[in-house]
Amino acid sequence: MSPEFSLHNFLTCQQFLNHPQDITVRCCATSQTRRFISHSQDELKQKAAEAAISYIAPKLDRKSIVGVGTGSTANCFIDELAKIRHTFDAAVASSEATQQRLAAHGITVLDLNATPHLDVYVDGADEIDALGNMIKGGGAALTREKIVSSAANEFVCIADDSKLVTRLGTFPLPVEVIPMARSLVARALVQLGGQPIWREGVTTDNGNIILDVHNLKIEQPLEMERRINDIAGVVCNGIFAQQAAHVAFLAGKNGITNLHSSAAEVP
Ligand code: 5RP
Repeated sequence: MSPEFSLHNFLTCQQFLNHPQDITVRCCATSQTRRFISHSQDELKQKAAEAAISYIAPKLDRKSIVGVGTGSTANCFIDELAKIRHTFDAAVASSEATQQRLAAHGITVLDLNATPHLDVYVDGADEIDALGNMIKGGGAALTREKIVSSAANEFVCIADDSKLVTRLGTFPLPVEVIPMARSLVARALVQLGGQPIWREGVTTDNGNIILDVHNLKIEQPLEMERRINDIAGVVCNGIFAQQAAHVAFLAGKNGITNLHSSAAEVP
């Protein structure tokens, strides 16, 4: 436990964690987090982004490359990252939208092919469990998010604490699919017990479609991630178990809950 540990925040953490043996919980009841007055979801996303900046800033140097996720929480992070843009070299983006936001802040954005190694990857999630397994892809950027995060040493997840779940799967699982395989993949997903719904009108940055799979029982996230990846026509699915978060900053009304996953050790 961190020196800032307090009983108040400990109770908050316990309420969220079903597997305390699997995770190191650090509750940072800083004066900043105690000053929360109102707690809209946007404010919580902002607090999570600020916590991630405090965490990564001491690790960055003029050669560091930061991988950046996609979504509203990632946008808060990008805006905070811009304030320390002179302390690192460049960023790699997980979507066209993120690339544009980074560039608008004057942050150099590199192609992943020109970047052998990322120091850290920071992104939001649609769900995260106590082991750092996540569902992602609500913003349809899952494939590039998985690619960019796999090139990074460390995955830092930022979210409001409503995203913390005991078991993944309440949020419909996004699956990116080659358009011609839509029906084929949908039938295979039904065989796995899910109910796929085509996210009509959405084309990913890679030119593909998204199926959102409802009511899927995800008891073994790693196993389910692999099974869905094995379906011909699937480009990527939104279970991030192979690339589970190493660290998560989850903002709630009582402050930041900081999860350090022992299942996903930082190399
Ligand atoms: C985009 C994602 C996002 O990280 C996820 O949808 C969370 O988004 P938000 O921060 O807006 O709640 O995976 O593909």
